[in-house]
Amino acid sequence: MTTIIEPDQDVAEKIRQAVPGAVSLLGSADRLAGHLDKDPAEQTLVVGPSMSVEDAVGIAERLRVERPALGVVLVRTVVDRDILPRAMRAGVREVVSIDDPAALSHAVRRAQAVARAMIAADESAERVPGGLLTVFSAKGGVGKSFLSTNLSAALADLGHRVCLVDLDIEGGSDSLMLSLTPQHTLADLHRFRGNLDTSALESLTTVHSPGLSVLPAPIHLGATVEVAAIGPVLDQLKGMYDAVVVDTSGSFDDYALQAFDRSDLLVLIGTLDMPSLKNLKLAVGTLDLLNYPRDLWRLAVNRADPRVGLSVEEVEQTLGIAATVTIPSSRDVLVSVNRGVPLVRSNGGHPASKAIVSLANQLSLDVALPGRTPERGRLRRVGRGRKAA
Ligand SMILES: Nc1ncnc2c1ncn2[C@@H]1O[C@H](COP(=O)(O)OP(=O)(O)O)[C@@H](O)[C@H]1O
Ligand SMILES: [Mg+2]
Repeated sequence: MTTIIEPDQDVAEKIRQAVPGAVSLLGSADRLAGHLDKDPAEQTLVVGPSMSVEDAVGIAERLRVERPALGVVLVRTVVDRDILPRAMRAGVREVVSIDDPAALSHAVRRAQAVARAMIAADESAERVPGGLLTVFSAKGGVGKSFLSTNLSAALADLGHRVCLVDLDIEGGSDSLMLSLTPQHTLADLHRFRGNLDTSALESLTTVHSPGLSVLPAPIHLGATVEVAAIGPVLDQLKGMYDAVVVDTSGSFDDYALQAFDRSDLLVLIGTLDMPSLKNLKLAVGTLDLLNYPRDLWRLAVNRADPRVGLSVEEVEQTLGIAATVTIPSSRDVLVSVNRGVPLVRSNGGHPASKAIVSLANQLSLDVALPGRTPERGRLRRVGRGRKAA
């Protein structure tokens, strides 16, 4: 939080005692650049009295350009009138006496507050809102959760920061499919009584792996989740992540409707069997009635095997939508689900994984999701992801 540069150990200790919060002590300015590079969130730099005014001013001038949010506080044995204007011109926030620890403490606190505000303003100015993708079918057991978890992992491997939200309130299985034991779930939403800021939502999510967090469905049967809270939660998450993937229950419940209203794309999923097709046809009719624009729909045909008596083409014709992706049926899917490791991570070369990764790629481009790692950097990242899983 605060870095102190002071060659004299006794003086450095005196400063350290006055400075609130965690500190790093540097004996000279030589290591400063490397030290700050390692900690981009550092808020304050205290330059001790053993450093010459020239050196201190030089450091402040450089940091004003390179790290404008970082506040420089200058500590002097004597604060004379000549120092103040020079220091201020160089961008030093405050000059305080070594014999006034209370003033030093206050100066550091003020510098930290300014740094936090500047960093937050910077982040919100830069932050492009993420996209929301809802995975939906009008029937259970067709692979929504398998697709949602694997799609989320595949999007994270493309470099996006992803939050998977399990809106299958009564039968959520995403935590299981990702081997997570969440401390908190959507059942804890009510505790925040509508004050759902970034830190509240961060405390409810569970990190699965770098770039992939999960907001799980309640674990215990009968838990209630207020429908009205879901819309604001999804809006807030879009501001925090590059991609929000929503898994649903398999019916047009109020939770799914909240997600539809905020979806940039709707991924409909069905399998190659008549009951699934019938339900999907009904879903398509309902979505038309609800006026969800068809250009926001994508169709994933799961368990798309030849010789089951129903072809992908027949499904496309019946629904009037072209399939965006077909995912083959495989025993390995069940093995990965039972192991709790997404197939795209454990076996990226698997035909089902390849299908989902290509879908992730396409959706990422369709919605222009922010945060995508450029092609070259990504190869390394995906490689790491696979090993980590
Ligand atoms: N392509 C596939 N090949 C083989 N089994 C699959 C495939 N897709 C899903 N499954 C299996 O079907 C079951 C239901 O999948 P799930 O994702 O839980 O469906 P939903 O979320 O729609 O209820 C799971 O046991 C899963 O392993
Ligand atoms: Mg499910």
